[in-house]
Amino acid sequence: MTGERLKQYQTMLEKKLESYLPEEGTQQADVAEAMRYSLLDGGKRIRPVLLMEFCRVCGGDPEKVLPFACAVEMIHTYSLIHDDLPCMDDDMMRRGKASTWAEYGEDIGVLAGDALMMYAMETAAKAFDAAQDQEEMARVGQAMGILARKTGVYGMIGGQTVDVELTGKLVPKEKLDFIYRLKTGALLEASLMIGAVLAGADEESLSAMEQIAADVGFAFQIQDDILDVTSTEETLGKPVLSDEKNQKTTYVTLEGLEKAKDDVARISERAKERLMTLPGEKEFLGEIIAMLVDREN
Ligand code: IPE
Ligand code: IPE
Ligand code: MG
Ligand code: MG
Ligand code: MG
Repeated sequence: MTGERLKQYQTMLEKKLESYLPEEGTQQADVAEAMRYSLLDGGKRIRPVLLMEFCRVCGGDPEKVLPFACAVEMIHTYSLIHDDLPCMDDDMMRRGKASTWAEYGEDIGVLAGDALMMYAMETAAKAFDAAQDQEEMARVGQAMGILARKTGVYGMIGGQTVDVELTGKLVPKEKLDFIYRLKTGALLEASLMIGAVLAGADEESLSAMEQIAADVGFAFQIQDDILDVTSTEETLGKPVLSDEKNQKTTYVTLEGLEKAKDDVARISERAKERLMTLPGEKEFLGEIIAMLVDREN
């Protein structure tokens, strides 16, 4: 059941992503091709799926929020392209193939990331066209604000900044928590909140969702650190032991593998409990959160 529904969402999203992509037969063909290469064929699509499902739970129509679902995936993909660059984590594999810079060169890698970031805003703005009244227009505006804020200096980019600055240094637990809440948590928070805002959720449920997403994001990053040491390149579709190579302090180096696993389970459980206090049918969401804990890639 979970698998089937997840597949439905993923198929809906893949089709839409494909249809939104820029044309390739232009002077900017290289960057357009690199955007397509990085965005299609791969990725769990967890952020857009959560966005659409939170929208549905809050009484909205998941299909109607596809521009934002695609925008969130574009931003996430751009962050991965830049994260893999030689000046960042210097990783040559992503989503089971050569990372974008390894395939197209560093220059096009940087530009494809930049282009996807702006394309995300252009794509999100398409939701204005579908808005039927002033209230819906206002919700789209609010959602765009959330997307930009959670991605920027106070969100994902802020987290990546502290992450790279502290590479090779021993990072205290509070600082690591800060990095994880921003670099990974912020975009997940944006995804859930946008789904809810577009469905017209009230401020109180919005703040509950922000907390749920913060926990899911935090647990998600710890699990990512765990997989970096316990998985294989084939299963992950990206290099293993990348954190060790880059001398990163991670949740695993700081707390040990067992405590890291316990904390993923504990924090996800807390997110699920909070989720259950919200109105609506949340069984599928609960299953997705549980799946994220047990994920193998
Ligand atoms: C990887 O994200 C980067 C992190 C924030 C941990 P995902 O594990 O969601 O990567 P894809 O989209 O499935 O490739
Ligand atoms: C990256 O964290 C988070 C973002 C891209 C914002 P990681 O560097 O741990 O992600 P992976 O392991 O390369 O996917
Ligand atoms: Mg990184
Ligand atoms: Mg990385
Ligand atoms: Mg990682």
